Amino acid sequence: MSKYIGVLYGISVGTGDPELITVKGLRLLQQVSVIAFPAGINHQQGLAEQIISPWLSPQQQKLPLTFPYVQDEAKLQQAWQQAAIDVWAYLEQGLDVAFACEGDVSFYSTFTYLAQALLQAYPQVIIKTVPGVCSPMAVAAVLGIPLTLRSQRLAILPALYTVAELEEVLTWADVVVLLKVSSVYNRVWTILQRLNLLDKAWIVERATQPEEKIYRDLGDRPHLSLSYFSLLIVQVTHS
Ligand SMILES: C[S@@+](CC[C@H](N)C(=O)[O-])C[C@H]1O[C@@H](n2cnc3c(N)ncnc32)[C@H](O)[C@@H]1O
Repeated sequence: MSKYIGVLYGISVGTGDPELITVKGLRLLQQVSVIAFPAGINHQQGLAEQIISPWLSPQQQKLPLTFPYVQDEAKLQQAWQQAAIDVWAYLEQGLDVAFACEGDVSFYSTFTYLAQALLQAYPQVIIKTVPGVCSPMAVAAVLGIPLTLRSQRLAILPALYTVAELEEVLTWADVVVLLKVSSVYNRVWTILQRLNLLDKAWIVERATQPEEKIYRDLGDRPHLSLSYFSLLIVQVTHS
């Protein structure tokens, strides 16, 4: 008889409000005995762990996984491989593991790298994912606006690498979403000012969390000190 191998579930837990977890995600989070999540920094809880903590029981095994915030590819690979080893130790014992992912698991998520590292090292691994609320959807709800309408074209930039990139996108997209805007806000503000788009832009910081903040009037805000969890939306009108 072949040995039972546990299943790794990638669970989208939404953007902050614990009630944004789907019914399926919650059921799995409460049913699985090992709960993994990205470890917080400086001994503080990470966001995914904070979101799920009201739903967990003390009996469930917690498995914080360390993913360093660095650009160095070798260090990242090493961290993903280590995380894969740590998760596999439970799966091979026949225990299921649920990995809690902030926002949606398929939307610019660390979970993908963990899944790739596991598949590479242990091709027999079984991985299932549960979709959820990602940050652009949550931000649209917070602002009370539709993200897109009719034939509008939506562009999502995961980070701004060059100013030219944003300028080019603004020539064709009707709605532009910028993730990780905190580190490039000044440059983005200058471009939006030049293109007369500041009154069509919003920033939401920590959407659906207790510290949520909305910035609607960017015209007199060339400098803002923003959390990493901030997103900018611009509604561009093309005639
Ligand atoms: C690596 S991406 C992760 C995206 C996430 N998986 C999702 O589904 O939204 C991180 C970026 O998502 C955006 N983000 C995630 N959660 C957010 C929140 N609650 N409020 C505002 N922006 C958020 C920020 O732009 C942040 O820099």
